Amino acid sequence: MYEKLFEQKAIGGVVAPNRLVFEPMGNYYAELDGSVSQRDIDFYVERAKGGCGIVMTEVASINSKTGRGNARNLCTDDDRFIPGYKKMADGVHAYGSLLFVELYHPGCQGIAPLNGGSMASPSGQESELIHMPSHAMTLEEIHATVQDFVDSAVRMQKAGVDGVVLHAAHGYLLCEFISSYTNHRTDAYGGSIENRVRIIKEIVEGIRKECGDYPIIVRFSADEYMREIGKDGGMVLEDAVEMAKLFESYGVDALDVSAGNYETMNWAWEPTGFDEGWKMHNGETIAKAVNIPVIACSVIRTPQGAEEFLKRGVDFVGSARQFFADPYWGNKVKEDREKEIRKCISCLNCMETLMAADEENGIRCQCTVNVEGGEECDLLPLSKDGNNRKVVILGAGPAGLETARVAAERGFQPVIFEKSDVIGGQLNLANKPPKKDKITWLIDYYQAMMEKYGIDVRLNTEATPGLIAAENPYKVINAIGSSPVLPRAIPGLDQAYILTPPDVLTGACQLRDKKVCVVGSGMTGIETAELLQEQGNTIELYEMADEIGPGLFFQNLIDVMGRLAPGGCKFFPKHQLLSVEEHAAKFKNLENDTEVVANYDYIVVSLGTRSNAISEEIAAAYPDMVSIGDAAKSGRIRHAIEGGYRAAVAL
Ligand SMILES: Cc1cc2nc3c(=O)[nH]c(=O)nc-3n(C[C@H](O)[C@H](O)[C@H](O)COP(=O)(O)O)c2cc1C
Repeated sequence: MYEKLFEQKAIGGVVAPNRLVFEPMGNYYAELDGSVSQRDIDFYVERAKGGCGIVMTEVASINSKTGRGNARNLCTDDDRFIPGYKKMADGVHAYGSLLFVELYHPGCQGIAPLNGGSMASPSGQESELIHMPSHAMTLEEIHATVQDFVDSAVRMQKAGVDGVVLHAAHGYLLCEFISSYTNHRTDAYGGSIENRVRIIKEIVEGIRKECGDYPIIVRFSADEYMREIGKDGGMVLEDAVEMAKLFESYGVDALDVSAGNYETMNWAWEPTGFDEGWKMHNGETIAKAVNIPVIACSVIRTPQGAEEFLKRGVDFVGSARQFFADPYWGNKVKEDREKEIRKCISCLNCMETLMAADEENGIRCQCTVNVEGGEECDLLPLSKDGNNRKVVILGAGPAGLETARVAAERGFQPVIFEKSDVIGGQLNLANKPPKKDKITWLIDYYQAMMEKYGIDVRLNTEATPGLIAAENPYKVINAIGSSPVLPRAIPGLDQAYILTPPDVLTGACQLRDKKVCVVGSGMTGIETAELLQEQGNTIELYEMADEIGPGLFFQNLIDVMGRLAPGGCKFFPKHQLLSVEEHAAKFKNLENDTEVVANYDYIVVSLGTRSNAISEEIAAAYPDMVSIGDAAKSGRIRHAIEGGYRAAVAL
């Protein structure tokens, strides 16, 4: 059905078996010395096995002394790294796919303390996102950096890697050279477009000299979207077309079209507010301008979106997050198992965890919907020793559904009792605010899994000791979720005009032209406010913490605030709700210790959730019952899915 996706296509002298590219994705999986880890190998090989014709590694540093991205960043600047890449290449080749290593230097977006105290960049301009000291490179430094790229390519060729990607996107060093936003040089490496791309020309010439026709891909941001944050300069599509033609004339084998830099990160790896296909025009325009293959990404999640992209002229469909979320996307499409695809919901937990990753907290890049992502080395293969033993799961939210899915895959027979008439639990609330419809994909995925494994899902059925006993279960899992908290310490929250987010999100209470106060600016509070605003209400959002959206990942906060603020919502951080009486909410302004009173038609209290209590009889009858997800502790979707996965693995 999607024939084009599975056509072969050459890049230079190598042939990719299909048009699916696992784009580079920083992950914090390498060994501390920069060498390839078993975690890396299993991670990339899984993507090849699942049907990505081309697998690209994360950013690999061409200079581990001046250009590391983090403490567990792949490096390419020493021959001792070659055997690791060889193993990785062999693993990817075993599934008929190609491996490309992405060569990079972070430039001014690097962490200075990791890299000798000052980051090299074309003009010494600091990144306004991370503010690290940076210096303008001398000509000697530029020449040495060119040589580092070339030497790295030589090593990759020796390792049997199929080619290299020169990373000139996302505001890193090569991007800084080609971008008018960061390159203010007046020598041969700055000014005109030709001058700005000179460093790439020299790298390509160097690689050609040392490695012959070894495949080279240039990945670059066709648009840095600086105008979106009110700034001038930077890459725009018109210049990108010129550059693409130059890259082609230098003998580059393919282009990989991306967008953005750190300051415009939401246009590079997009939060949920961006729809599939929104930047297809960038790839399409570049593809029309050159005669070499063009890879491009654009929040591609569905086979229809991917096929459309190819029809519009790009040669390869790229995605990092989709193939992180489901490495088997390609095989599923090819085998007509489209409904089984687990789509990326653009929640950016991957980027949030990557940025938080360090040795002390043990965090590394992780996916909300795919617990195995990055953990293949420890979690796969699943043992299939369920032997049809029954597992009773209480609750069909994401935790319970994931338990059932994995248990079924292991050969257990799950039975789910769900008191409502639908599966998905709170996913059915999370998908209601504007731009959150991607969450519905997750519900659909679990529905498909329930059907695939023939899982016995008993809707409209609250579990009783008798119902559970009738199944004679090997194990009982408690995944009954959580409910909103209305703190008793705050007087007046028992009035009819006091609502919780589910009242709004389920549509049980539909408001219009009302003055509504939302108390609590966690993601649920903010998104409920957004929905209410969209429905035509006037919103004031209160938060006790110093800032709106405490603890939220900044990319998601920027995304939702970008819609909420222009709609007129007023924000009151540092305000604690004291009481409500006769539609009047009384707050304490924590900054100046004064009291503020305001009248509202409705007050939505979004102060978190508390685990639902399991019946005492059930708990007594099944003392080894395991509680997971919100039933154990309120958390995000990843917490629920991980709880479900691990409970099923532990059966
Ligand atoms: C956690 C994370 C890490 C990334 N790391 C890299 C990287 O190392 N090199 C790179 O070129 N792009 C990187 N990207 C960008 C992706 O390759 C891709 O362009 C972006 O995620 C948008 O496409 P997608 O939504 O299909 O994943 C990263 C993106 C994310 C979310």
